[in-house]
Amino acid sequence: MSAELQARGIETRCQSIEQLAFGDADRLTAESDAVGIAYPVYGSDMPQLMKDFIGSLAPAKGKKAFVFCTQWLWSGDGARVGAQLLRERGFQVGWAEHFSMPNNVSVTVFSFMPYTNDPGRLARKLAKTAVKIKCFAERIAGGRPFRRGFNWAAKLAGSIQRLPYRRIFHRLRNDIGVDLSRCTNCGNCASLCPAGNLTWDGSEIKTHGSCILCLRCYSFCQEVAVTYLKKPHRLNRGKPYRGPVEDFHPRLLK
Ligand SMILES: Cc1cc2nc3c(=O)[nH]c(=O)nc-3n(C[C@H](O)[C@H](O)[C@H](O)COP(=O)(O)O)c2cc1C
Repeated sequence: MSAELQARGIETRCQSIEQLAFGDADRLTAESDAVGIAYPVYGSDMPQLMKDFIGSLAPAKGKKAFVFCTQWLWSGDGARVGAQLLRERGFQVGWAEHFSMPNNVSVTVFSFMPYTNDPGRLARKLAKTAVKIKCFAERIAGGRPFRRGFNWAAKLAGSIQRLPYRRIFHRLRNDIGVDLSRCTNCGNCASLCPAGNLTWDGSEIKTHGSCILCLRCYSFCQEVAVTYLKKPHRLNRGKPYRGPVEDFHPRLLK
């Protein structure tokens, strides 16, 4: 998205919310003509970290904003949820969109996982997403508002997915575990956890029920020892997703 906006003459700066010190976000917002927020869709809802982040922003007094979400398959109005929170902070949200990026989903607990183990279909899907990203950037650069997920059908579909998701979310927070027969007690998973869910006391990994389902521990465990819903990763479905470039590592975010 950043590259597509820059190709249209818009200077951009990308920032992980984890890198922001207190006050940085408000300073960057004040310095910019527009602000974009991006997050993965979670059950037509957004990750709690992102909700907390938007809630912490200073009132924006009509600053232009856009929102986009990554999704595995589908989201009713996942981008509208973020747009609504931004509006409550005073942003004027002109653009909202969903982008299918099923390459990022690596848990193998469901036997029905389209795209992830079918490189041909995956490449076609991502090629379509690339076109959609171009169109979205063009609309922003041209000042032509576009908001996906704002009609009544999308809102209804989103609510149908979101209401049960919100009800069961707290239960999902205990779903990460460790297969002790594979674990080498390196402590890598605990050091990567942004939610304090995993701790390592030097000899044992413990879980604390505060998981936000980012799946960094699952994807970056060298021994593939982290489990989801008590099931280990099935390597016959390929390795867990480890980022958009060969040497990507979430520590680089810090
Ligand atoms: C708890 C959870 C809920 C999710 N819900 C949805 C969903 O409702 N629809 C969908 O298409 N993808 C869903 N996904 C998939 C994410 O949106 C997907 O992981 C995202 O495309 C990956 O983006 P990222 O690499 O930026 O995290 C969900 C993922 C998680 C972990």
